Amino acid sequence: MKMVYHQATYDEPLIRDIKSRHTYKLPEVNDPEIISAIPADLVRENLNLPEAAEFDVVRHFTRLSQMNYGVDLGMYPLGSCTMKYNPKYADKIAAMPAFTEIHPLQNNKTVQGALKVMYDLQEYLKKISDMDAVTLQPLAGAHGEYTGILIIRKYFEVRNELSVRREIIIPDSAHGTNPASAAMGGFDVVEIPSNANGTVDIEALRATVSGKTAAFMITNPNTLGIFEDQIGEIADILHSSGALLYYDGANFNAIMGITSPGLMGFDIVHFNLHKTFATPHGGGGPGSGPVGVRKHLADFLPVPMVGFNGTEYYFDYSLKNSIGKVASYYGAFITALRAWSYIRYHGKAGLREATERSVLHANYLSKRLSSRYEVPYKKLKKHEVVISSENTGRRALDLAKALIDEGIHAPTVYFPLIVHEAMMIEPTETVSKMDLDRFADALLQAAELEPEKLKEMPKNLAVGRLDEVKAARDLRVCWQQS
Ligand SMILES: Cc1ncc(COP(=O)(O)O)c(C=O)c1O
Repeated sequence: MKMVYHQATYDEPLIRDIKSRHTYKLPEVNDPEIISAIPADLVRENLNLPEAAEFDVVRHFTRLSQMNYGVDLGMYPLGSCTMKYNPKYADKIAAMPAFTEIHPLQNNKTVQGALKVMYDLQEYLKKISDMDAVTLQPLAGAHGEYTGILIIRKYFEVRNELSVRREIIIPDSAHGTNPASAAMGGFDVVEIPSNANGTVDIEALRATVSGKTAAFMITNPNTLGIFEDQIGEIADILHSSGALLYYDGANFNAIMGITSPGLMGFDIVHFNLHKTFATPHGGGGPGSGPVGVRKHLADFLPVPMVGFNGTEYYFDYSLKNSIGKVASYYGAFITALRAWSYIRYHGKAGLREATERSVLHANYLSKRLSSRYEVPYKKLKKHEVVISSENTGRRALDLAKALIDEGIHAPTVYFPLIVHEAMMIEPTETVSKMDLDRFADALLQAAELEPEKLKEMPKNLAVGRLDEVKAARDLRVCWQQS
């Protein structure tokens, strides 16, 4: 059955322009005692808020949601983002009043359950990564990287080596946040090339590592979806020169339950809870980027950590060389709670199965798409596959528009930068074979359309082709009365 997609289109006004008759009215307050209790500078005659009846509000937002695409609507194969289906049990647990109605300043004795969740999650993440200590504070992957860089800084500061160890080495396939975090932490970024397999060029690494190196930052599998099989040798090169090895855990969905950063020789790792363990990336809420470290770095973690003395959970401020706090309170608790639920639900075997499925799905797509698209570098992929449309004579951007015209979310395009006309596809474990085939069929068919026809797409959406440069450069993020 061919599905013909047409996104809902409404000429939807702003909520403040909706004229409702039956709006909700608060009762008049006439009690002089209450009136006099309100500070005079907070009293207003008018409050310029939209006023609409419940049914108009619900219909307004439902219509807007129908003009949108989300993980509840279909496959969302944005490479490097792990946009898996967000399980409802995790949302349900995160919405429990026992969690939503507590306050971070509450006495510890009254929030033992919440502290237990945080403590347990620290322990689970330690096991999954084979690290010795974990902080839940950082609020995103990039924030985890920055926290990690501050830890690396402090480590060398305490050893009186910081004035010499000024360089962080990063491969050319890295995500842009890696060099940005290293530079924000005050280090010089040194880029090294990938080899013909799409993995780290070991000779280039060897030639670059020196007494000036503070760390090497890398994700494994890398952003090409390829496992760095020389990671043991890489770890030896770094450690024998006294430098550290940082693991960007954005691609954890490819290794959970099979291997770990600890086994690979890493010293420090960040997790993207909002990708790997429920809560889709960019899912409209806060992220969470916990950082795990080996023993020799544990004293530098942010405080407080969550501790347990056998009877009670408590906040532990005792780390002597802590870099200090990196987030208000204790991090994105609700996102951590979803991750805790996801890990509890899956268990060890379930996490491994999720990894196996996500790898199988990426390789299935790789195989199907290779009949028409170039699949550069090593053929065996992990959780994602990067293809190039250059050989088809069609631009990745135009093909992406053709996909969304079919009602299929486009993959990431033009990243990683080392592949021309790149399309980076990450199907995740939460996708059926039917959807994988639908995706592959649509992308294969798009490659047969006239390039000029592709430029007219999308046609089935509420809006047509956008001016992407203007959208990125001419930012107006505040609503203004016209
Ligand atoms: C490989 C990699 N590293 C780091 C990040 C940064 O994570 P976040 O977006 O949570 O800041 C991403 C995000 O997509 C990524 O794919």
